[in-house]
Amino acid sequence: MSRILVTGANGQIGSELVEVLRERHGPSQVVRLDLKPPPAANGRPSSPPFEVADVRNRDALADVIAHYEIEEIYHLASLLSATGEQHPDRAWDVNMSGLKHVLDLAREHDLQVFWPSSIAVFGPSTPRHNTPQSTVLDPTTMYGVTKRSGELLCQYYYRRHGLDVRSLRYPGLVSHKTAPGGGTTDYAVDMLARAAAGEEYTCFLGPDVRLPMMYMPDAIAGTLALMDADAGALSVRDSYNAGALSFSPAELAAAIQEHVPGFTCTYAPDERQRIADNWPASVDDTAARADWGWAPEHSLEAMTVDMLSHLREGTREQRGVGREEQGSPGA
Ligand code: NAD
Ligand code: SER
Repeated sequence: MSRILVTGANGQIGSELVEVLRERHGPSQVVRLDLKPPPAANGRPSSPPFEVADVRNRDALADVIAHYEIEEIYHLASLLSATGEQHPDRAWDVNMSGLKHVLDLAREHDLQVFWPSSIAVFGPSTPRHNTPQSTVLDPTTMYGVTKRSGELLCQYYYRRHGLDVRSLRYPGLVSHKTAPGGGTTDYAVDMLARAAAGEEYTCFLGPDVRLPMMYMPDAIAGTLALMDADAGALSVRDSYNAGALSFSPAELAAAIQEHVPGFTCTYAPDERQRIADNWPASVDDTAARADWGWAPEHSLEAMTVDMLSHLREGTREQRGVGREEQGSPGA
């Protein structure tokens, strides 16, 4: 059984990936690391092992890896696209120095590494539809610059040092357990959450910008499938394209209206529109499908139904409705 370290473990992806890794390997085998302790879940303090550390601190990372005898790292700590444009120096620092430390320590300790890239590596000169695996990469954001630089760094460590580092270019991820953290595609989660609460929504992107998106269960399954794959089968060592869904804000609003008939969405695009305008609408993921069996399962309809159901349940639990219905006094 591997001892696993997940950096950025409190985030949108980390919080769900840790749950699945703990189911697979046992809770004590999965060490979470983030800037702050995780929030208590349902009033219960979250379970150890957890380490408070900044991934820019190489010595702190080295101590954690040595102390827990780590064998595998999922390095998720990062600033995302919108926050990165607000704080470009910090985005470069966290995203690049964190990755460099992880790769150096992984080399030193012979660890396997997963590191996510993003559709943000693409830009205005990239073919926008069915974007090829290998194509023009001209990111327009600091986030995208760090992701493309990180891809090249991962590929370099693989070619030069034989480090087993694997990567996916995640599209916009949609999930209900932990709120997204400063990305351009966050609008989708925001819209679904408002609809589930019976509220209207003002979208920070215009209605027609189609982007590649993915439901979190597919993202987690794909991440684990890539990490489980036979190393010899992997032909891509910068980062794999992984497609799943492609929809615009208006198309998501229409899918929601099928289940929440009174839902209304208006549009007030802000500076995040410029970011979205330079990203693809869909990606060609032939290599991921052929090399390690990438096969996402969730359609826009399935994702919408599942999200609304979970978000409504969360709202009901927050209000105590769930407990009353289960037979508490006065119910
Ligand atoms: P998130 O913002 O939800 O979580 C990131 C976590 O990293 C946070 O908990 C934050 O506290 C932590 N962190 C930030 N700086 C840190 C530091 N210096 N040291 C330690 N921890 C630090 O992000 P996420 O959505 O979970 O994304 C995880 C990874 O996946 C990132 O690399 C991101 O670029 C990538 N990705 C995410 C998406 C998406 O739609 N969520 C899409 C493409 C790629
Ligand atoms: N969802 C991410 C973002 O919007 C894409 O990397 O930043």
